[in-house]
Amino acid sequence: MKKKILVTRLYPEAGISLLEKENFDLTLWEKERPMTPEELLGLAKTHDAVLCTLTDRIDKAFLNECRHLEIISQFAVGYDNIDIAAATDLGIPVGFTPDAMSEATADIAFGLMIAVARNMFFMHKTIIHGQWGYFNPTGHLGIELKQKTLGIFGLGRIGLKMAQRCQNAYDMKILYHNRTRNTKAEKLVDATCVGFDELLAKSDIVSVHCALTPETRHVFDLKAFKKMKPSAVFINTARGPIHHEKDLTQAVKEGLIRGAGLDVTDPEPMAKDNPLLFMENVCVLPHVGSATMEARNQMSILAAMNIIGFYKTGRVSHIVNPGVLGS
Ligand code: DGY
Repeated sequence: MKKKILVTRLYPEAGISLLEKENFDLTLWEKERPMTPEELLGLAKTHDAVLCTLTDRIDKAFLNECRHLEIISQFAVGYDNIDIAAATDLGIPVGFTPDAMSEATADIAFGLMIAVARNMFFMHKTIIHGQWGYFNPTGHLGIELKQKTLGIFGLGRIGLKMAQRCQNAYDMKILYHNRTRNTKAEKLVDATCVGFDELLAKSDIVSVHCALTPETRHVFDLKAFKKMKPSAVFINTARGPIHHEKDLTQAVKEGLIRGAGLDVTDPEPMAKDNPLLFMENVCVLPHVGSATMEARNQMSILAAMNIIGFYKTGRVSHIVNPGVLGS
């Protein structure tokens, strides 16, 4: 019997054609929009495996109804849309796609940092609104980034790429805060591991690169923003709920920090009248960190290979819960 794979979105062809070559029975969702939870559940019930992404809610209730799933393969490095503990309890392996998007996401973090430092998105809007009157010697002054201090919250693969960009381009000093020390990064970019409060107090730029977990949810709240320099720039390209959006809005409005660059918001999509969108020192993007052809192709290949590897060898190359497959 052919294995039935549910492919929940329009993923890049590179990975889909790998699955097609393996002669699976594929159900491809062909609409632009994600499935509703009901559509996802209805279809998943009749499939052996699911290739999904962060717009698919794979929670405990879903998993309890879909205990028969043999593998879940996530097209993303983050997997906070999946209840990993519940999947693990049910013995369902969960694959993911680490590193495929590290360069692409670090580019977006780096780009947002410069954009906020120079008020770029807001200045673009002044032209659209007919406000480009004349050259202004004292108006809209930004800040320079040379030899500033970068504070990375969650120094893993993407954080390291961001640190390397900042060091090479601007000779920045690198601080970081992690649960466990990253000695490789310490050697590569001369990064110093510091406590959370020290990171906040000493960084000119704070860039978030950690996973969303119960511990990191809302860790950047008003209390944290108050500990940052009034000249500091906050960048989040990881997950929206890591910062508390109302507190961030207040922090920028009251000048507790200089500004913010966000590729992620809470909720997504952000409402078009969100006050952050109208602030001079805030730049927001619609979760496009991994949106390069290279990254998305590679993500689709890794997500497909996780399924193929599982059915051919019983192993999943990139797995979140390796314990379910035994040693
Ligand atoms: C991820 O991979 O987790 C990104 O947020 C989307 O590519």
